[in-house]
This record gives sequence, structure tokens and C-alpha cells, in this order.
Amino acid sequence: MLKNLKALYNTCLFYGCVFLFPLSPGTLAWKLFRSKKGKIPFINRDLICDIDTLNALPKNDNSLDEFTTAFSPFIPLLALNGLNWKQRRKILSEGLRKMNIDQNFIFDIPLKKGDVYWDFFKILFNIGFELIFCRKITPIEFEEMYLGVADINCLIKRHTGIPNTKARWKLYHRVVILLSEENKNFIFSDSNAFKSLSEIDQVSIIVEDLLTSICIQCTDLICHLLLLYSPFEESFKNHLDNCMNETLRLYPLTDIWTRKSTTDERAWIASLIQLNRNGWSDPDHFKPERWNINDHPPLISWGFDARSCPASKIGYHLSKNIFEKITLDKDVWILPASNFKHERTFPAGCQLWIGKGKKPDSLKWQFKGKWKTHFQQWFYSRFRVIDQGELW
Ligand code: HEM
Repeated sequence: MLKNLKALYNTCLFYGCVFLFPLSPGTLAWKLFRSKKGKIPFINRDLICDIDTLNALPKNDNSLDEFTTAFSPFIPLLALNGLNWKQRRKILSEGLRKMNIDQNFIFDIPLKKGDVYWDFFKILFNIGFELIFCRKITPIEFEEMYLGVADINCLIKRHTGIPNTKARWKLYHRVVILLSEENKNFIFSDSNAFKSLSEIDQVSIIVEDLLTSICIQCTDLICHLLLLYSPFEESFKNHLDNCMNETLRLYPLTDIWTRKSTTDERAWIASLIQLNRNGWSDPDHFKPERWNINDHPPLISWGFDARSCPASKIGYHLSKNIFEKITLDKDVWILPASNFKHERTFPAGCQLWIGKGKKPDSLKWQFKGKWKTHFQQWFYSRFRVIDQGELW
């Protein structure tokens, strides 16, 4: 009885806060239970609090329930369960191996004062296309595809509440045209397994598993790195890999993991578990040197089990290459707005001043529209919780 009451209380507390506060479910779970160990029981699932408990769970591949993804309405879900996801992952990995990330990508650094998030998103979109189809995108292809991919991210980031179906259909049809093209360099051109999939599954692998993931994940990581660069310039110059690990620890890109129930285990969610205090010394601070030694929990920002990121090498190296290209230019300087709060999900974009050459006398600057973007994000995240039954 007491157990049930506790579960009811935890559930109401968590979902009540999810509904009211302008934070993602993952961030909230962490804020509410940040130092706890073990499991917090909800009515129909458990919240896993720390990495030790996560690692002790029985193996369970049935990840991400269908409601937690934002890729509706017409493209199937990123993480299909059962045989399908395994088959899909196998095919995907074959394509990933064909990607040449060591090529010299040319892009213009967005030299501006303001939100650079979407500038990088566009750069990654063009690079992603090139990695998949091994040729440059044409203007008409860009026009028909970009808005659809950007819309997926706008929905995930809660910059909007309703999918732009027109843009998504355009994206879908253009990918179908690309698939019918005789392109010997396309990463799946000699994959019979890929060709035997239905049209919608083929489009979904290209759009969701590849293009969208490249755009969103790498843009997010690059923006986090750039925001941390100015206060920790020396560390970034001398120990970039440590700094990347520390950035991923403090700003994990994946908000929440879920697994379905099995006969041995209740369904569970784990949220921003890397941020849990247990096992880390001075956990709130950016300390790249902690990665020189091993007396801390492992980094699980790339996942922890059979469903971990199949593109970790690509995601890491591509983000690192682009970041290095910007920061190795000795004339480039970077400064976040003084009224900008660095948050995990970029509710107000990535407000940076990126300049080249002589620095102006006063570098302090503020961006406008802070509260408007916060309100918008709050509104759309409530909307999405209702619309998609997220987490229930
Ligand atoms: C750049 C930083 C990236 C990070 C930190 C990251 C992190 C993750 C994590 C934590 C998961 C596991 C989610 C879970 O267990 O539920 C995951 C899955 C996945 N990632 Fe990444 N990722 C990154 C980049 C990429 C890129 C560039 C691609 C595509 C080229 C990609 C494609 C995928 C796919 C398809 C899955 C689903 C795998 C499955 O369900 O079997 N990721 N990623």
C-alpha cells in the first residue's frame, strides 16, 4: 500500500512538473532526483538514477517507445523494435562504413553576432548529404529537403508544436527521386539488403537515421563546444579529446532512454544519468583533466548497450573536424552573449559572436528576444507532451 502511494506521489510529482515547467522531461527527472541512487518507482515504470543501477539491469533491447519520437506523422520511427531494428541497424552500419569523413569539407564560418545554431545546422545538412550521396547537393535538392529536416529538429527542440507536413512530404519525395538515381557512389548502391527494404524504410534510414542524426547531433555537439571554448580556450587547444568528453558529460545530447518491460523487469526510463552526482568529484564543473584518470563512472553519452550509437566514430570525428577548422584559425575569436544561459537543448539558440581579425574594444554583448524564445519553448513543449502522449 505504502509502496503504491509512493509510486503515485513520484508519478504525480514528475509528470506534474513535466507539464508545468519549461524544462525537458529528461532535465526535470535529473533536477528532481539528481543525487539519488537506485530506482525511483513510478506507477508503471521505474526511473533509473545512476550508472551502476543502469549497468546492473538485465539486457533489454526494446528501446525508445513509439511515443517518444518526434518524427511523426509519416515517416516510421527511428528505433523500431524487434527484428526490424536489428535488421535496420545492420544495414545502416554497412552504409556508415562507406562514409568518408576524412575528406576536406569546405564551409564558411558564420561570422556574425547572434544565433549561429541554424548556420551550423545548414553546414551539417550539406555535409551530411555529401557523405551519403558522395556528391554536392544541388540548389533544387536543398530547397526541397532542407526545410523538412529543419522541421524535425524544430519539433524536437520545441521551436514549433506541429509538424510541417508539406515540407516533410517534399523531403520524402525528393529522397525517393534520389533513391531512383543511378549513383554508384551512393553509400547503399551495392547493398541488396537496403534495396530489399520497402520505400518508406529506405527513406527513413536516409532521412532519420542518417541525415537528421548528422544534422542534429553534430550541430548540438559543435555548439556546446563553441560555447565552452572561450572560457576554456587553453584546455581546448591542448586537450581537445578530454574537452569533448567533458562537454558530452555536462551536456549529454540524448535526453532520455526508455526500455519496455520484460518478464524480469518493469519498464524503465533513465534520464541524463551522466549528470547524476554519484561517483563524480566536483560534478558541476568543467574539468577536462578528469579524463586523464579512470576513477570515475564511464562516459555513457554514446549509449551503454546494444542500442548505443552506431555512428559514434562519425559523430565524434565530424564534430571534431568542424570545430577544429573554426578554432585553429588564429584570427577567429568567439564570445557568447552575456545574457545567454548555456543549456543542454538550446531553447534560445546558440547566441555567439564569432569574429575574425581585430577584436572590437568592448566584446560584451547581449542578445534580444530571450524571454520570447523561452515562452515559446515552454508553450510548445506542453503542447507536445499532450499531442504525443510523451512518456506516458
Ligand atoms: C555527435 C554526437 C552523437 C551522440 C552523442 C549520439 C548519441 C547516441 C545515443 C546515446 C544513442 C542511444 C540511444 C538509446 O540507447 O536509446 C544513439 C543512437 C543512435 N544514433 Fe547517435 N549520437 C551522435 C551522433 C550520431 C550520428 C552522426 C548519427 C548518424 C550518422 C547517429 C545515429 C544514431 C542512430 C541511428 C541511433 C539509433 C540506434 C538504435 O536504435 O539501434 N548518431 N546515439
